[in-house]
Amino acid sequence: MLWFLNKMCTSKARLEGKTVVVTGANSGIGRETARDLYARGARVILACRSMEMANKAVKHIKNNPPSRVNKSEYKNNAGELAIYSLDLSSLKSVRDCAKSLLTNETAIHILINNAGVASYPLYEKTEDGYETTLQVNHLGHFLLTLLLLPKMQKSSPNCRIVNVSSLAHILADIDFDDINLERSYGSFKSYAQSKLANILFTKELARKLKEANLHGINVYSLHPGIIPTRITRHGDKALFPGFTFCCNIFFHLFYKNAEQGAQTTIYCSIDEKVANETGLYYSNCGVATPYRMANNHQYSEKLWNISCRLLHLNPEEDFTTILETVSRQVH
Ligand SMILES: NC(=O)c1ccc[n+]([C@@H]2O[C@H](COP(=O)([O-])OP(=O)(O)OC[C@H]3O[C@@H](n4cnc5c(N)ncnc54)[C@H](OP(=O)(O)O)[C@@H]3O)[C@@H](O)[C@H]2O)c1
Repeated sequence: MLWFLNKMCTSKARLEGKTVVVTGANSGIGRETARDLYARGARVILACRSMEMANKAVKHIKNNPPSRVNKSEYKNNAGELAIYSLDLSSLKSVRDCAKSLLTNETAIHILINNAGVASYPLYEKTEDGYETTLQVNHLGHFLLTLLLLPKMQKSSPNCRIVNVSSLAHILADIDFDDINLERSYGSFKSYAQSKLANILFTKELARKLKEANLHGINVYSLHPGIIPTRITRHGDKALFPGFTFCCNIFFHLFYKNAEQGAQTTIYCSIDEKVANETGLYYSNCGVATPYRMANNHQYSEKLWNISCRLLHLNPEEDFTTILETVSRQVH
């Protein structure tokens, strides 16, 4: 790994009394993020679709401190771990998860929308009728965030929402007439579109919160780096046989391990240096400039509107009314 691409989060922040939700925390970057925040004393909720893998992740996290922490320090100062069931490919599951979180948790201070899928070889729709990558990577997180916002508002100030995007957004566009990609599905195209959506959602949510005078919740998006995780598992079938092998050779110099790959997520979630920033995009533990369509204000507004409509919400209503409407969906 080239050293200059490998900045670590240097914050010494402790998180006693803070509750963090991490989606897709049973493997890869999500598990590493959960481990780091747990080591800092937080109550960390692993929101995962496979209970078996989530339980394995809890065991792994408890038995293996991050490299910066020694074992006895870890044992004495770590926080709590809890598992909630969440399948982002089902809006019902997202609502059920939110309902349980709203009922059982007294506060939510940090929400990390990390879960993701990539490169489904064949076009797939969810039970809700949306293209799977779009729903798992964007729409499910969009709904989860709106549902948890009132609880985060009550837990503020100093709350943060972190959306894990990707550099892949540079190759993306959004066809608003065919956001479900029914006419032009491509496995990489769907991934890149969803990752562009993560950045646009971050910008628009930050703007909506400001406009509605809802202070104390900041929103961040980021590229974590290139990390060999299970995310490439469909690549061989979707793109070409040997895709993973070629990636390994081509990207070898740029690879981060999962612990290094979690650093920008951790930075956005807790670092004091970004406490007064919102709506921005980060890479390698610093602000970065996203590319092309990600800077288009009309795009972020259009994506907001279309996402609301897909969830049967009226984007013409003001933000607080939308939050009230979406909250009624879970009661
Ligand atoms: N690795 C990279 O090089 C890279 C680069 C840029 C961006 N990213 C982003 O980083 C994030 C984490 O990816 P990763 O590399 O750590 O991959 P990973 O190890 O495959 O982790 C992805 C996580 O998302 C979960 N997930 C998938 N579908 C889900 C669903 N329907 N409902 C709930 N959870 C679901 C997975 O759970 P299961 O175990 O049940 O599948 C897993 O826990 C993703 O958003 C990805 O786009 C990664």
